[in-house]
Amino acid sequence: MKPLTIPAKAYARRRRQLMRMAGNDAILVLPAALERIRSRDTHYPYRQDSDLLYLTGFPEPEAVLVLVPGRKHGEVLLFCRERDREREGWDGPRFGPEGAVEAFGLDDAYPISDLDDILPGLLEGRSRVYYHFGRDQEFDLKLIGWLNRVRAMVRQGAQPPHEFLELGHLLDELRLFKDRDELKLMQRASDISVLAHEAAMRAARPGVREYELQAELERVFRMHDAEPAYSSIVGTGSNACVLHYRANSAQSQDGELVLIDAGAEYRGYASDITRTFPVNGRFSKAQRALHDLVGAAQAAALAQARPGVPYEAGHVAAIETLTEGLLKLGLLKGKLEKNLADGSYKRFYRHKTGHWLGLDVHDVGEYRIDGESRLLEPGMVFTIEPGLYVSPDDTTVEAKWRGIGIRTEDDVLVTKGGGQVLTGKLARSADEIEVLMAAR
Ligand code: GLY
Ligand code: MN
Ligand code: MN
Repeated sequence: MKPLTIPAKAYARRRRQLMRMAGNDAILVLPAALERIRSRDTHYPYRQDSDLLYLTGFPEPEAVLVLVPGRKHGEVLLFCRERDREREGWDGPRFGPEGAVEAFGLDDAYPISDLDDILPGLLEGRSRVYYHFGRDQEFDLKLIGWLNRVRAMVRQGAQPPHEFLELGHLLDELRLFKDRDELKLMQRASDISVLAHEAAMRAARPGVREYELQAELERVFRMHDAEPAYSSIVGTGSNACVLHYRANSAQSQDGELVLIDAGAEYRGYASDITRTFPVNGRFSKAQRALHDLVGAAQAAALAQARPGVPYEAGHVAAIETLTEGLLKLGLLKGKLEKNLADGSYKRFYRHKTGHWLGLDVHDVGEYRIDGESRLLEPGMVFTIEPGLYVSPDDTTVEAKWRGIGIRTEDDVLVTKGGGQVLTGKLARSADEIEVLMAAR
């Protein structure tokens, strides 16, 4: 697969849009993600802050993007680490301020060590500050310090900002609607994830360890220059009922299902897929009945993925389908209306049917506006992931159901014509999965 990138003009367009929303008397301050220590002198793999990625693609830590709409001497400023032969010998190359201006199409860049001197002057005369308050306490305090320096100059005629606004109000709305360049990357992340799930299905057999399947998935991610977008979940048997299972250490038994929830992150963009399949390649009758029901719930939710339909409608359709099916199979008893009103499905289905997807696996964007579920619009991407989880010690249901956990999750783009499934190439129904696994 050919490497994909986002062109510089796409980043410039996003910055222009954001600055237009903020207005000419505003300033926007976006620090890079912090490096985090894993133990002593080893760090967790560094991942840039999603907002900074969205607006620049700049990958380094110890940086701050400052947007100053309408500023004559430059609107797009980056503070970043200087070049340093010694450090670069240990950690790899740095762009440095000059290199960053060139590579990322910025108006100007300065050494991060100059932030303290320069930022108060940029804040002065701007009435509104957009920033993510409360994310990084150390930076919050620095920002307050810079503001106080401007306030201290009031008698000399300085005009300190007087409104402080949550950056997410503007930026999350932009990020919610994916542009053409983003959709290409999201399709790539989906394609890689599909290959990874297929590889895991092919590697399954009774006795396989969960981590062996995880290794198979993540091998395929890395082979395509991607990495896990979140901790891969590989749960055999009743481990599938643990929603955020992470141990991935158990050995599968013949006759069990395995639930894999894993997605690749490509150039910062997440994919999020779940499939549940039998380790021996054949669903039992009970497993198939529940798998079919989850599939029907997913199809019902997908039918609601159209412009103009409330986001919530997919979840409502899924729980109606699940409740009806659970009654038919005898896992729930009584009348449909009463069960729906009681929310009795929650015994077997404890989570929501999806979430926005993008640079973050649980991506930014409001789900409700003025107390109402927001309506879907073209360009939104979200997951549809109904499931059923029967606790292994639930003695109120027939023994054949106990310990079965199933989820089916795909990623969907809303287009004018309806929902377009980005992950649709992967075997989904019990029959499709059995066909794929029979060819092992
Ligand atoms: N893998 C996280 C989720 O499905 O939401
Ligand atoms: Mn998900
Ligand atoms: Mn998932």
